Amino acid sequence: MAEIIVARDKAAAGEIVADHIAELVRSNPETVLGVATGSTPLPVYEALGARADAGLDFSQVRAYALDEYVGLPVEHPESYRSVITKEFVERVGADPSRVHVPDGSLDRIETAGERYESLLAESGGVDLQILGIGTTGHIGFNEPGSSFGSLTRVKTLTEQTRIDNARFFDSLDQVPIHCVTQGLGTILRARHLVLLAFGAGKAEALAASVEGPVSSSMPGSAIQLHQHVTVVVDEEAAARL
Ligand code: GLP
Repeated sequence: MAEIIVARDKAAAGEIVADHIAELVRSNPETVLGVATGSTPLPVYEALGARADAGLDFSQVRAYALDEYVGLPVEHPESYRSVITKEFVERVGADPSRVHVPDGSLDRIETAGERYESLLAESGGVDLQILGIGTTGHIGFNEPGSSFGSLTRVKTLTEQTRIDNARFFDSLDQVPIHCVTQGLGTILRARHLVLLAFGAGKAEALAASVEGPVSSSMPGSAIQLHQHVTVVVDEEAAARL
């Protein structure tokens, strides 16, 4: 059973998670963080940035992103490498050479999954994995139907996820069709999962993930297989719990 924290608002949720991460970093400067993209984790990164400004040292922290689009140049502002750099690395002053994002470049795509799994294996394991959830119930980019044992690999995005993410691009056509994502099996190896969700649009997927049947048609329900899960939500996202 996951620990569920209903925070006053997004900012308060960000503070709660940032406090916990700050504690980890203080006790182990080389903490391995699993970082996520999308709008959901932003309050956490903002709160971590404030702690970095107040003197918390993130220079030895290692971080691993969940996923990346395939075929988008890394310098594209919406590549997850760019997003993680801007929203996390620059805010907290992390060392970019210690921050990893799956390689979505087309010319080496066949080996992207196994190369990322090797990098993760070298890390000694993720201490705390930040997760958002998509309206389809995806975590990372593991769309419905993803195996609970899956490892990092190329996946096709659902039309719904492309529509959801079109707000970051000029048009739907520009949203990539494929991604490289950590598998559900990869994500479940992290020592602590912290799932965040905000707003009424996430209420259904959140309730199904936390309380519904464990099923690959609801990828978020994989968290029920993990022994250490914290769910941090606002009241709107908690509405169906
Ligand atoms: C994105 C990411 C997920 C994220 C989810 C929700 O596409 N791949 O890691 O959790 O979709 O996005 P948002 O937080 O913007 O609602």
